[in-house]
Amino acid sequence: MIALACDHSAIELKHEIMKLLDSMNLEYKDFGTNEAVSCDYPIYGYRAAKAVASGECDRGILLCGTGIGIGIAASKVKGTRVCTCSDVYSAELSKRHNNSNILTMGARVVGIDLAKMIATHWLTAPFEGGGRHTRRVEMLTAIENGEEL
Ligand code: RB5
Repeated sequence: MIALACDHSAIELKHEIMKLLDSMNLEYKDFGTNEAVSCDYPIYGYRAAKAVASGECDRGILLCGTGIGIGIAASKVKGTRVCTCSDVYSAELSKRHNNSNILTMGARVVGIDLAKMIATHWLTAPFEGGGRHTRRVEMLTAIENGEEL
């Protein structure tokens, strides 16, 4: 289950991502907003990120004007590994190496076709695991838990 969220600036892009997920037979849950009036991206980023962190959703795609605000909001939730991407390479590597579980994009930064391409690479790339990547991701969790490195 994929958590989706956006602010007012990215509703159209969210609908395009929904169509993409439908075409990939991937289920999603929409955490809003669906009203084209100015709203506060932390609310929607937080709700979707919490669903990912709790296991209700296994990953999330969150959208705002730049992808940055909603990404910062999501990254405040313990258990998230957020990547804000505007290129395919970063999106794919964030999964392969960092096991990112939330992708954010900016509707005012990337066009719809590029956003769909980025999302497709992110959704289909595996976490490579293995020694060094697993160790580093575990270190990220350690930092989150207040441990010293
Ligand atoms: C809204 O105008 C804009 O600030 C928001 O979508 C986002 O880009 C914040 O990071």
